[in-house]
Amino acid sequence: MIKVGIITASDKGSQGEREDLSGQLLGKLVKEIDGEVIEYAILPDDQELLAEKMISWVDGLKLDLILTTGGTGFSIRDVTPEATLRVADRLVPGIGEVMRAESLKITPKAMLSRAIAVIRKRTLIINMPGSPKAVAECWNAIVRALPHGLQILKGEASECATISEK
Ligand code: MTE
Repeated sequence: MIKVGIITASDKGSQGEREDLSGQLLGKLVKEIDGEVIEYAILPDDQELLAEKMISWVDGLKLDLILTTGGTGFSIRDVTPEATLRVADRLVPGIGEVMRAESLKITPKAMLSRAIAVIRKRTLIINMPGSPKAVAECWNAIVRALPHGLQILKGEASECATISEK
C-alpha cells in the first residue's frame, strides 16, 4: 500500500468558494497504484503554508507520495513549485519533463505549467496543474513508472527489471 497525501493549492478552494474536483480526482486515480489517501488538505496559494504541510506529512507522517494540484502557472499567487523546491532534498526532473512532453501533445498551454517533482527523505512529491483535465492527463503520463520509483524510494526494490518493458 502506498500512503498518499493530496494538497490542493487554491485560494478560492481554501475559502470554500470552489469545489475541489481535482483533489477528488487524484484520490480516485491513486487507487491505480494501490494508493490510499491518508491526508488531504486544501490550502491557499501561500508558500509558507504549503511547505509546512509538506514537511509535516514527510517528516511526521512519513507518507510515500504527496501529490499537489494547482498553483503551478504564471499568476503572481502561483507558488506551489517554489514551496516544493524549498522542502526538496533531491530533484526528479524526469517527472515534470514527461508530464509536459505528453501534455504538449494535447495542448500548447502545457508549457505554462511550472510543475516540478522532488524527493524529501523517502517521500516523492509531485506537482500537477490545477484543472481536473490537466490532472488526468499528467497522471496518465507518469502512472506506469510510479510504482517502480516508489518501491526503490521505500527500499523495497534495489534493482531495475532486466526484462524489456513497453
Ligand atoms: N497540462 C495539461 N496536461 N492539460 C492542460 O489542460 N493546462 C495548462 C497547464 N498544463 C493544462 C496543462 C494551463 S492552461 C495552465 S495555466 C498551467 O497548466 C498552470 O495551471 P495551474 O496554475 O492551475 O497549476
